[in-house]
Amino acid sequence: MKWLNLNYNTDDMPLYLAIAKAVRGAIQEGQLQAGDALPSSRHLAEQCGCNRHTVMNAYQELVAEGWIESRQRSGYRVVEELPVESSLGTGAAKDSPEAFSWRIPRQTQSLPFRKAVTYSVNFAGGCPDISLFPFQTFRGYMNEAMLRPDIQSLNYGDNAGYLPFIEQVDIFLRRRRSVVDKKIVIVNGTQEALYILAQLLLQPGDHVAVEALGYAPAWNAFRNAGASLVGIEQDHLGIVPEHLEKVAQQKTLRALYLTPLHQYPTTVSLSASRRLKILDIAQRYHIPIIEDDYDHEFHYRCQPIAPMAAKDPAQQIIYLSSFSKLMFPAARIGFLALPPALYDSVVQYRSVMNHKANVPMQDAVARWMKSGDFERYLRKLTRTYERRRDLMVSLLTQYQQKGIDLSFEKPDGGMALWVKTSGPIDQVFELSEKQGVFFQHERHFHLDSRSDQNRYMRLGFAGVNEDKMMQGLSCIMEHLKPV
Ligand SMILES: Cc1ncc(COP(=O)(O)O)c(C=O)c1O
Repeated sequence: MKWLNLNYNTDDMPLYLAIAKAVRGAIQEGQLQAGDALPSSRHLAEQCGCNRHTVMNAYQELVAEGWIESRQRSGYRVVEELPVESSLGTGAAKDSPEAFSWRIPRQTQSLPFRKAVTYSVNFAGGCPDISLFPFQTFRGYMNEAMLRPDIQSLNYGDNAGYLPFIEQVDIFLRRRRSVVDKKIVIVNGTQEALYILAQLLLQPGDHVAVEALGYAPAWNAFRNAGASLVGIEQDHLGIVPEHLEKVAQQKTLRALYLTPLHQYPTTVSLSASRRLKILDIAQRYHIPIIEDDYDHEFHYRCQPIAPMAAKDPAQQIIYLSSFSKLMFPAARIGFLALPPALYDSVVQYRSVMNHKANVPMQDAVARWMKSGDFERYLRKLTRTYERRRDLMVSLLTQYQQKGIDLSFEKPDGGMALWVKTSGPIDQVFELSEKQGVFFQHERHFHLDSRSDQNRYMRLGFAGVNEDKMMQGLSCIMEHLKPV
């Protein structure tokens, strides 16, 4: 970008010196940085309403002072090594008042997320394999969205989402997940939905029940609205209904947040009988359920069990899902399938934080879904992830046979394995990380950090190809070897 906003004053000096002073000031203030290109003399002359030679003279002055240099074919640039004077900044900066101290009453807890690029093998459980995404095919739908846009939809309004995309999501939900009788609102990912719901449904001091081992970004959204979280106990079958009932007897619960299909992080599927018990408790104690179904399609043993929201005659379940795993997290597309009674309030509230989700992206995804390419890709992706799950299970079984004390259940679906070790894993985590191999430690998921047994690893299989998986596991297992 060659645009440059300059403030200059010609009261007591010729114009070329005033321009030179303004450019020097822009460098000193950091508006222009080492190596930045300057506007061409023609552009800057147009901007300042002066002759091109005036700008050339200003630039020559700055070259002589050592602020900028002329490079062949790339015009003028700020020098890489600025004159010493610049490090002092302007006179105004020297006298600047003490830095402002901000009051941040809504500070949130930091999340244990890592940058994928930092690791040579990243077993973080929520990472899809983005390299498998059909960028070429999708580009065609993006092009169509740009070539034949629905102009009206690109304006303000229609805050619930782009209608053709809502229609596709509606069909997808009915046919693939048996969710009917809900009203759809498109959001920029599940996180936005959680934020809207928390702000809309919760008040400071309210209690929200969550899985004791669970998804910290959702907790942050609830806490940020002033809610206190209550962890519901889990066993090998998922959350324990009897404990939920006990909590409900003691406290008024304003919401129950659940990941029933592939519990996050353990990947356990909540059985049909437990779902019924939980729904019964929710009905008797009047607790809204927020069902987060973030990776529904990745189920391998059989058809995934339908969401709880598929059978919700009382309309007390809010269903959330996302395209972050079906596409990639940066697509920022998710949706709420709402009880109709909540629809207007949610659509109105969403404009407090944002007007609508990105329409060209919704348009492209709608075209992709309608064409059938989306379904084909999903089938292929699910098969790939199934193979990776099987490979991880077989590699871990081989390590068990070699004497490494591990235990795990083969998950029916999801994108990760929840693996127990016989000894502490702190050191294994740190040593592996130093060698560029990342996995999630159980402490990333406990609501109550005192419950950390320092024994469980979450090993994501979806985002790593076969070679990386072998390499990463071999590194981790090296540190787990009995001494
Ligand atoms: C439990 C859970 N919910 C939702 C999501 C997706 O969130 P978003 O749609 O904001 O990317 C994830 C992704 O890791 C998740 O693990």
